[in-house]
Amino acid sequence: MTDPERWTEWNLRRASVVRIYECGERMVVLSPEGDGHALAGDSAALAGAVLAFLEAPHTGAEVLAHVESLAGAPIERPAVIGELLGLLLRARALEAAPTAGLARPTRAAGPRVVLGLTGAAATMHAPALIQRLQARGFEVRTAVTDSALRFVRAEALEALTHAPVVSAIWPESQVLRVPHIELAQWADAVLVCPAAATTIARLAAGDHASVVAAIALATRAPVLVVPSMNPAMYAEAAVQRNLARLVEDGLHVAHPARALEIADPPATRTPMLGGAPPPEVVVQLLEAIVRERASATLSQAPRGAEGWDRLYRTHAAAELPWQREEADPDLLAALEHEGASGLAVLEVGAGLGALATAIAARGHTVVATDISAAALEQARARAPESRAIWLCDDITETRLRGRFDAAVDRACLHLLAGAEAERHAAAMARLIRPGGALIVKTLAEAAAGVTPYAREAIAALFAPAFALEREAASTLPGPTASPAARLFVLRRAGG
Ligand SMILES: Cc1cc2nc3c(=O)[nH]c(=O)nc-3n(C[C@H](O)[C@H](O)[C@H](O)COP(=O)(O)O)c2cc1C
Repeated sequence: MTDPERWTEWNLRRASVVRIYECGERMVVLSPEGDGHALAGDSAALAGAVLAFLEAPHTGAEVLAHVESLAGAPIERPAVIGELLGLLLRARALEAAPTAGLARPTRAAGPRVVLGLTGAAATMHAPALIQRLQARGFEVRTAVTDSALRFVRAEALEALTHAPVVSAIWPESQVLRVPHIELAQWADAVLVCPAAATTIARLAAGDHASVVAAIALATRAPVLVVPSMNPAMYAEAAVQRNLARLVEDGLHVAHPARALEIADPPATRTPMLGGAPPPEVVVQLLEAIVRERASATLSQAPRGAEGWDRLYRTHAAAELPWQREEADPDLLAALEHEGASGLAVLEVGAGLGALATAIAARGHTVVATDISAAALEQARARAPESRAIWLCDDITETRLRGRFDAAVDRACLHLLAGAEAERHAAAMARLIRPGGALIVKTLAEAAAGVTPYAREAIAALFAPAFALEREAASTLPGPTASPAARLFVLRRAGG
């Protein structure tokens, strides 16, 4: 990309943000540092055509061919195109196009945050903060104090979040009946930003009179309070005492930034300590807090759909110990033994969908189920082209019908114990056709929340509907590194 001689091989696209304006026949291209380069007449028209073409990624050679097709004749001096691309690249109006396959999948079902806005002047920046949170994958709901609505309109917040703004303890719509409790439970994190001194005092005193304080006090999710006020207010003994109290109570309190004090006349404002940090920094702090809480919850598998949904919303795929981007080769080999393609396969506990996607790619019909709708939403987003059918279903209370040639359970059964495991076995007996296969991988040793299965236990659980046909040593990632696992193949009786 840096060799100007090889500009035809560059793979480029227009940057999302460019610093360009046009006036008359001139086009002015600014660099991020503010240096300007003016193009006039044909050069300006050429730059306009090239930028429009590079809305989609193309190589330098393709740009040249495009320009020639527009001109209806070969370009006399093709190097002109290379020079123009170089100029636009230096001005960051163009960038290297991402190589196909490297682009990160969209993170569906990200963490839920309730943003509490108060009567601090920085609430006027709330729309920018909301957009930043959304860009980082957060699902945002807003709650406001009466004073907050002096700085931002509810309509703007609702337009951005596509959700009603909660501004009172008593319900204003039929959607939320007890808004502060429902939002406190909904949240994976609560962000009070900017936090005015009055709201901080309410939080320190346990005063639930405003809906913002009530949500932050009632939630079990982590709370980040971002104070924002005049430096003299910030330095007050009462404010400092209240902030110290919040820290003691287990809330997270951000350090302030030096910001402009709006009480001063515009021309005399100088940065002083007490303001909220800019949105990108607030979001960084919040992400660190959500990550910290998430890693503390990983030591034990959650129970129930709500716990699994929260886990998938608050963890990146790479943080989940059992998550692998590739399907387990031994599970695929066991399935291959049943048929190379064309089987009706059920996967139980599909998680982020790597195995289901690999099975579907081999030409099988796959119904991939998980107890967590958030996991399946992410699975769908990670492999939009996958032909797997994603279905939210709890195998211990399954609503599935049908007859499958094979079912695969990778690391789900060992999270079930007693009656739940028995209901799993009964479901399998109903769903797998006579002669069909049940392929199960479980951890081989006990861990928190895990029931390991050995040969006798698995045979007893699935008898008499299934007979154990084969078993093999295997591994599963996490919670400790690659612990021992067993792979079992059971055959449905009556085939
Ligand atoms: C123009 C203006 C700007 C204000 N900015 C702040 C501020 O940045 N921080 C703060 O703590 N209070 C600020 N206040 C005062 C609060 O709005 C006031 O203390 C109010 O009680 C806050 O209530 P709340 O916490 O329920 O929103 C400001 C007031 C006005 C009129």
